[in-house]
Amino acid sequence: MTIQAFNVLIIGAGNVNFGSAEGPWCHTTRLERKLGARLNVVGLVDPDVKRAAARLAEKVAAGVHGYQDTVVFPSIAAAGQGIKGIPQMALLGVQPSVRGSTKPGQDAELQLKKHFPQTAIFVEKPISASTLEDVQDVAAQLGSTRTSVGYMLRYLEAVTHMQQLIKENNLTIMSTIATYFMAYEFAGTNARAGYFDKTAELGPIVGQATHIVDLCRFFCGEVDLDSVLAVTVEGYEKPGALSRLLFEDGIKEENRIPRITNALWKWTSGATGTLVHAVALHGEAYDTELTILADGWKLKLVDPYGVPRLYVRRPGSDVEEETIFKSDDPFYSEVSCFIDVIEGGAEPDVIRSSYADAIKTYELTWAIRLAGEASASRRRVTSA
Ligand SMILES: NC(=O)c1ccc[n+]([C@@H]2O[C@H](COP(=O)([O-])OP(=O)(O)OC[C@H]3O[C@@H](n4cnc5c(N)ncnc54)[C@H](O)[C@@H]3O)[C@@H](O)[C@H]2O)c1
Repeated sequence: MTIQAFNVLIIGAGNVNFGSAEGPWCHTTRLERKLGARLNVVGLVDPDVKRAAARLAEKVAAGVHGYQDTVVFPSIAAAGQGIKGIPQMALLGVQPSVRGSTKPGQDAELQLKKHFPQTAIFVEKPISASTLEDVQDVAAQLGSTRTSVGYMLRYLEAVTHMQQLIKENNLTIMSTIATYFMAYEFAGTNARAGYFDKTAELGPIVGQATHIVDLCRFFCGEVDLDSVLAVTVEGYEKPGALSRLLFEDGIKEENRIPRITNALWKWTSGATGTLVHAVALHGEAYDTELTILADGWKLKLVDPYGVPRLYVRRPGSDVEEETIFKSDDPFYSEVSCFIDVIEGGAEPDVIRSSYADAIKTYELTWAIRLAGEASASRRRVTSA
């Protein structure tokens, strides 16, 4: 019996595609689990060809199926010239500064479209590091290209359960309350300067809280952008001193990230949205929660990145019911759903995050960041 191979082109030999000690992400292991003997990685693109070759060698040495014929390329254009076989899917796991734009060198999606017009694209979050207009232009040029964006929290079983409760009980959401408390000790003591410098990375809201903001959007949809308000605690303020941040002197004060961003807004449905992002905890584990309120109901999702727990308080009882989701793997689910759609085995709506939708999360996170920065500037002027 011949096995129908599924061809994948991997872009980026970094952590999100090949794993790291920092978190549960690793797209390749999910591809391997989904496709087994069908996986055929036709190319691995990374300008750091040594890193790419090393990652590939690890897979081959471990006897993992799917990498026997993989060729390393320094660019998408080179892959377009030299690859054997048409990839059904491209896995775009590179930093946002090289994608999400029409500008040369930052236009990975459009390079893929040019060299592999039939290939579906899985792209990581955040959707871009460019302007909103630029990334909207990318979306327009991608046209009918099948896309999926790596907002994996949307695929959690706990989230599906919350959606069912909302639907079955005909609930109208009154408020979303999200908290994202980062444990900064590792980054703060290992000179991970990019995270703490707004000019090097996108900052804690656009680059990090994006996951939980996107999850709020998954439940509530459109936001009234004019309503977005935010206040911050900055590093130069007394409550902003961080004892385990050891190298910030090298970052200009105006480029340092806020320690706390406290934002609120109105969804167009009329519900309110709240986000508190903090760079405050020591240790390793991030602390994230999302609470949804409706008349008589509280749905609280705890630890969506780790072992998700759902606490439900419903009409008729003051006691919260706890459900623990011990063996859920949303990274697997997002890849699995995308492959099923590509192969025609599932309807497109099982893809829970599209390119066009992810742009709206990008827009909201920028609105929050800019509202926080404006408020900090006003406070500085007033107190000067
Ligand atoms: N969904 C999640 O939970 C999650 C987790 C980690 C990272 N991410 C996202 O994944 C993306 C990549 O993060 P990472 O941690 O893997 O970064 P990384 O720095 O470990 O890896 C990025 C790799 O891309 C390569 N690269 C740079 N320019 C390239 C280009 N033009 N073409 C091909 N390769 C290129 C780099 O050489 C590097 O090897 C980021 O957008 C990040 O936000 C998402």
